[in-house]
Amino acid sequence: MMKKLTMAALLAVVGMHAMAGAGEDRQKSFKKMLLSYEPIGVMLRDGPFRKDQFIKHADALKLAAPLPFAQFAPGSIDDVSRAKPEIWQQPARWKQEEVRFLQAVSALQAGAASDDLATVRNKYNAISQSCKSCHDAFRGPKK
Ligand code: HEC
Repeated sequence: MMKKLTMAALLAVVGMHAMAGAGEDRQKSFKKMLLSYEPIGVMLRDGPFRKDQFIKHADALKLAAPLPFAQFAPGSIDDVSRAKPEIWQQPARWKQEEVRFLQAVSALQAGAASDDLATVRNKYNAISQSCKSCHDAFRGPKK
């Protein structure tokens, strides 16, 4: 009995250790997206609009956007993670949110050189809506 308990406790510790940092790693990847997503928003809202910089940020966002989504291993909700269990319970819906988001980011990047700022702004807004839609469904409150 004693031996069994000790073993279980040991496995629990090993298990926790193996997962330590998953939430933090994901949050870091999402925060990396902010380095380009935020300046894009500022330029479109408040200006000044510098096309060369805008294109650079759009390229950087396109590179950073897919990274967090490779980091959602099943069972990786730890003490800092805001991931909801629905991510793994509703994989098709989760995938749809990811695909829509990456398409919106690609669309902005593909049109970043355009002089039609109203259209560029719409593309940016589509990204923002995608962030919110996924967060509403799949991100829980801050821990
Ligand atoms: C397909 C779903 C999805 C999309 C799209 C998405 N996120 Fe998230 N985001 C999440 C989830 C889930 C977490 C929580 C990860 C964790 O804590 O394990 C998260 C975490 C974050 C974090 C980490 C800090 C925190 O307080 O949770 C930031 C910052 C963030 N997202 C910003 C954004 C922005 C900005 C966009 C759009 C440009 C975006 N996200 C798009 C699902 C998404």
